[in-house]
Amino acid sequence: MSFGQIEFSQLEKPAGLFIVFEGGDGAGKTTQIEKLAKYLTAKNKKVLVTREPGGTVMGKSIRDWLLEQTEVDVDPKTEALLFAADRAHHMHTVIQPALTLGHIVISDRHIDSSVAYQGVARNLGIENIKNISRWAVGGITPQLVVVLDIKVEIGQARLNRKDRLDRESKDFHEKVNQAYLDLAKLDPAKYLVIDAELPIDEIAIKIQERVAELI
Ligand code: TMP
Repeated sequence: MSFGQIEFSQLEKPAGLFIVFEGGDGAGKTTQIEKLAKYLTAKNKKVLVTREPGGTVMGKSIRDWLLEQTEVDVDPKTEALLFAADRAHHMHTVIQPALTLGHIVISDRHIDSSVAYQGVARNLGIENIKNISRWAVGGITPQLVVVLDIKVEIGQARLNRKDRLDRESKDFHEKVNQAYLDLAKLDPAKYLVIDAELPIDEIAIKIQERVAELI
């Protein structure tokens, strides 16, 4: 398991399974992704763990501009386009090639993060953001989105350090959380919403049970 990059010249129709983890900051996605990757690896599955933003060399640089640097004021539209650029490159060079090879790709965040943070909380419009991201990824969508639902104050208290978006207001993060729940309601077959305050192992088992239906 690694945040690796795979490059292949011949891209075919994806054969693998694409799973995305979403949720507010401090929801425990990293812990649960590690647990799921271990579970799947123990079943002899080929697993690729990756993330947005920052799942590629270029993406790490975009991530830095988006989340870490404080010299430039990144306006909301530029922010949305940078997340989409990271996503396009990530899809083309990491996710699609791995799926083509039959891997199970687990991504820490994907399109729904842009819908929730930029579309809803930044108020740029859900359809605008969906259209940009769909264009960026060219038709590949996750088979399962796991949403770890965490109360804002609990999630924020779990963070050791805060990036540019973590420092947004409580109201901003509440809009993000509600956006995830609304997305899940629209397509319950694709989403698994879990209360992130449950014990870690209980959450892991719920995720494994759902993933077991897909493998
Ligand atoms: P994380 O890697 O620690 O989850 O941090 C990524 C931050 O970027 C998090 O605050 C959510 C935010 N984000 C967006 O605002 N839009 C996006 O499209 C993505 C992928 C992340």
